[in-house]
Amino acid sequence: MSIAAKGKAAIARDGFATRLGVITATLGSAVGLGNIWKFPYLTGANGGAAFVIIYLACTLLVGLPVMISELVIGRKTRANAITAFQKLAPRQVWWLVGAAGVLSAFLILAFYTEVAAWVFAYVLKAIGGGILSTSPEVTSAAFGGLVSSPIQSLVWQWVVLAWVSIIIIAGVSKGIEAMTKRLLPLLFILLIIVGIRSLTLPGAGEGLTFLLKPDFSKVTGATVLVAMGLSFFKLSVGMGTMITYGSYFRDDQNIPGTATRVMLADLLVSMLAGIAIFPAVFAFGFQPAAGPSLLFITIPAVFSSMPLGSVFMVIFFILTAIAATGAMLSLFEVPVAYLNERLGWSRLKATLVTAIALAVIGSTAALSNSLLAEFKLFGMTMFDLLDYLTSNILLPVGGLFICIFVGWKWGFKELKQALSNEGKLENGGIVRAFFATAKIITPVLVFIVLLSGLGVI
Ligand code: PHE
Repeated sequence: MSIAAKGKAAIARDGFATRLGVITATLGSAVGLGNIWKFPYLTGANGGAAFVIIYLACTLLVGLPVMISELVIGRKTRANAITAFQKLAPRQVWWLVGAAGVLSAFLILAFYTEVAAWVFAYVLKAIGGGILSTSPEVTSAAFGGLVSSPIQSLVWQWVVLAWVSIIIIAGVSKGIEAMTKRLLPLLFILLIIVGIRSLTLPGAGEGLTFLLKPDFSKVTGATVLVAMGLSFFKLSVGMGTMITYGSYFRDDQNIPGTATRVMLADLLVSMLAGIAIFPAVFAFGFQPAAGPSLLFITIPAVFSSMPLGSVFMVIFFILTAIAATGAMLSLFEVPVAYLNERLGWSRLKATLVTAIALAVIGSTAALSNSLLAEFKLFGMTMFDLLDYLTSNILLPVGGLFICIFVGWKWGFKELKQALSNEGKLENGGIVRAFFATAKIITPVLVFIVLLSGLGVI
């Protein structure tokens, strides 16, 4: 790229226009499928409130420090994940951390867009009444029919890619910010509507007990590892998403304060999702399940059991689609920002190329239950492999190096300047506590998560 073009890209750089927009976009990234099927189930299965307390502790020591580190790297450099490291550590290999982040974002999207594809398909199925049955056998067959159809799997993934691309092309403030500002409040309202419905069902109490009753006897070493890993995925850290979003933060944004608020609001959404799901599951005598089968098999059967269930089912899948959208926008923005700034491509071109590449690579995930069901690497289908590789390896490795960079490479003085908005904020104590954590505690804990993800411990 010519120097003139570089200069132009720097001047024209978009960003979040309002403080509220910063919060909705960042929270939109954190809130995702993880809130709907990962967090509530793990909480119920691992001791209810006891798990929430452990999750909070892990988030304070792992997820939040990495998030603050990423946001401050992004805002300080005002650049995509790769250029950010090149600016802070010129002519050194740290940019590889950013490159791994861009790769991770792309690979997560390759399978996340397929799960989102099922959610989008379910919105239509819920409206058409195609999944309205109180029998899990019937809803299970409906889900099986969807995932084993190559055409449906691919076309719905393309629909999702087109939807996210349109918002991304519109830009950071006019696309991502404007959209999350509208969608997030809607998500809260829909979640509360479904939550009230679920709580007012006869027999709902058992579900609340499942979700909230503190049971420390269920907490083991493995639970703590699960909570640590979850804090990573939940806050969208370890792969440059928050570096990219941080680069769009306003100069007057209080980074530690914003990150903490986002973390708490994300937790609230997860708890609300649990309240929307489990009382209803128990009220109708179903068993809570984990992951996709909870979302796509149990939940349709549960909603079909209640009066006006078809309406609540439509609402539920729309809110899940909204949650997935915010997360996908943040993932998509990582490669787009890179291609736009480094190669000088227009947003339109960068988005289209990313979307087409995703349609190609993502098709291996989309077809993992049909044409490619027998194609396995390391004993996993492509869908499972992409999930495993990103969640268990790339994210923790990325997070580890991001913390090491902030704690050991980037000096405390500069960091303090950046986190206090060049001295305008009186947050010396918080910055010191953050620095000590990110320097020692977080890397050690992330290393342990990594070893456990690899099956070493
Ligand atoms: N935080 C998102 C969720 O809970 C997932 C995600 C991970 C999004 C990494 C972006 C980056 O579903």
